[in-house]
Amino acid sequence: MMGLREYLGILRKSLLLMGACVLLGAGLATAWTLTRTPTYDSESQVFVSTQGGGSLADLAQGSTFTQSRVATYTALVTTPTVTSAVIKSLNLNETSTSLPSSISASNPTNTNLIQITVTQKNPALAASIANALADRLTQTVQELETPVGDSSSPVKLTRVSTAQPSPRPSSPNVALNITFGILLGLITGLIIAFVRELVNTKVRTASDLEQVLSVPNLGLIPFRKDVQLQPLVVINSPTSTSAEAFRMLRTNLRFIEMGKNRCYVATSSLPTEGKSTTVVNLAIALAESGSKVVVVDADLRRPRVAEYLGIDGSVGLTDILVGGAHWKSTMVEWGNAGLHVLPSGPIPPNPSELLGSEEMTTLLAVLSSQFEIVLCDAPPLLPVTDSAILARATDGAILVVAGGRTSRGQVANAAASLTAAGANIAGTVLTMVRGSQSYGYAYEYADKQTGAA
Ligand SMILES: Nc1ncnc2c1ncn2[C@@H]1O[C@H](COP(=O)(O)OP(=O)(O)OP(=O)(O)O)[C@@H](O)[C@H]1O
Ligand SMILES: [Mg+2]
Repeated sequence: MMGLREYLGILRKSLLLMGACVLLGAGLATAWTLTRTPTYDSESQVFVSTQGGGSLADLAQGSTFTQSRVATYTALVTTPTVTSAVIKSLNLNETSTSLPSSISASNPTNTNLIQITVTQKNPALAASIANALADRLTQTVQELETPVGDSSSPVKLTRVSTAQPSPRPSSPNVALNITFGILLGLITGLIIAFVRELVNTKVRTASDLEQVLSVPNLGLIPFRKDVQLQPLVVINSPTSTSAEAFRMLRTNLRFIEMGKNRCYVATSSLPTEGKSTTVVNLAIALAESGSKVVVVDADLRRPRVAEYLGIDGSVGLTDILVGGAHWKSTMVEWGNAGLHVLPSGPIPPNPSELLGSEEMTTLLAVLSSQFEIVLCDAPPLLPVTDSAILARATDGAILVVAGGRTSRGQVANAAASLTAAGANIAGTVLTMVRGSQSYGYAYEYADKQTGAA
């Protein structure tokens, strides 16, 4: 289930979309309103009374009689008897079947009044028709209610309100239509925003990750264009938000390290999610804060650590595993902060076998005893099994996830392959996070961690 923060996040992401929908709604409503021909309402009123004796009993009886009749007289307004006569007297270009559609007659509750409203494109015509209808109704009722042989009717209709041409059109209602357009636009925008969110299964936020995996998120690395040209962000742009994000990752890793020497493997679901970049920057950040760190390039398929650090990677891990070289003589010291690097060495034909070998387990055990932190770079989990095999021999995997690219399902499958191999998942790192909210989350997360510790 989504929480309030997720809903607000969706709204914030969709502000532009909703703004566009609202504008479109208002625009369409305005355009529609402008193409309507305005119509005008005019209203006349007729009062119904009963002539009779002067006694109270007569009056009461007359009143009851009148009320029961008013409804009938109201219905008479739109009958051909009344309308035909009006069409004739005003010489209208209408028929007794077409005219009633522009007439509305009603009897306000608890009154003896009949209200006649006429809607026309011409305001003066609307008034004339309303008045003519009132007069004609009066006459018709007079004729119908006069008993045979009598000269006058006991019921009398009087026009009490004369229809006047209206200065303002009753339709279209500009304000109402535009309000309606804006509302409709807003609702459409909301629906599109939420459907888009439901259909999109990519991992984008730390909370997306926490919904898939119940492991802590250790960091959010913002997307940064020049990483491709200068992978060592922590060195090249030490004050950037990206460098700050790597230092935050270092701090969070310290919390799960808890003073012991640890060995981690960085892996991901898919290729090019940012594992190598994360490993080298994290290692530099750790070394800068005084930790004794070694980076092992255990990606024996697409090794990049040496390249990113700008060192020679021709001799390394495979020379130890296959050729029996000693780790001390193979290792390269990088910079002067105490960062050690073990490049991959020549690419072997059987990476999984080498990484799962006894020699590899022994090497990691030795390195763990000599260094505070051992960070292994590794291939992605879904295409090959190397990382899952390797992770089993470490304290845990750091699952790197490229924000907005990898789906929840792929992350879940990658985690499942680690668990199936008997490996522990230490935490996740969301990389290439776009948008300003990423950094806020990072701080919030750091606060949460500090509070919990
Ligand atoms: N935070 C980032 N912002 C922008 N681009 C990034 C970021 N991190 C990594 N990249 C770019 O993404 C590409 C892949 O990065 P990297 O080599 O670190 O991924 P990888 O997971 O190690 O890939 P592989 O699966 O090949 O080992 C590189 O071109 C890198 O410059
Ligand atoms: Mg890599």
